[in-house]
Amino acid sequence: MHFASENISPATAYKLLSSTILPRPIAFVTTVNVAGQTNAAPFSFFNAMGSEPPVVVLGFQTNADGTQKDTPNNIIETGVFVVNLVDEPLAAQMNICAATLSADVDEIALAQLEIIPSLGIAPPRLRAAPVSMECKLLNSVPLAGGGLIIIGEVLHFHVRDDIITSQDPLRLDINKLAPISRLNGPKYGRITDQFEIERPK
Ligand SMILES: Cc1cc2nc3c(=O)[nH]c(=O)nc-3n(C[C@H](O)[C@H](O)[C@H](O)COP(=O)(O)O)c2cc1C
Repeated sequence: MHFASENISPATAYKLLSSTILPRPIAFVTTVNVAGQTNAAPFSFFNAMGSEPPVVVLGFQTNADGTQKDTPNNIIETGVFVVNLVDEPLAAQMNICAATLSADVDEIALAQLEIIPSLGIAPPRLRAAPVSMECKLLNSVPLAGGGLIIIGEVLHFHVRDDIITSQDPLRLDINKLAPISRLNGPKYGRITDQFEIERPK
């Protein structure tokens, strides 16, 4: 079947994207607003986009009423954010933070998440996250329908010690990291079914 983007609704376009581009990694993003209120929410329109400097990208849809979500608002206002990666033990708390809540609700308290200060920026990181990346806003791209793409530079990587199996050369054990991924709707994936293909020289 063929779909021309000019003839489909934003909801259909979202369904086509979110049910075909998967599994998607999940960024559990912590931010603070200008008043100092902390916020946490998960986003799976997320990936690494460069390494010199290290760059990540996040894609935000608007709330159902057309307003911008708290996370992109906070990133634009303060220029900083933390991307925390998500493993299975963190999944339930992550899901609590995906509820549509007003900006004055502290999702971190609601989900009983433990936070620790970041090294270089105001938003805290999540103690339970296997990996956290302190980021600064590099650029933002507004979309016609009100959505927003945020491009961020990673300033600090925090990786749980047991995930690093060698420091020189650096080696990480992805099975210890064990990130979960977003599929479509309420479905999530694990990285427990893997296979290898050697790359040609
Ligand atoms: C696993 C998962 C992935 C999500 N990915 C996105 C996403 O990529 N973009 C988006 O706008 N919302 C996404 N959401 C929805 C947001 O988490 C939700 O709208 C949240 O309430 C936003 O919170 P905020 O207003 O505090 O930023 C996702 C939700 C879940 C559970």
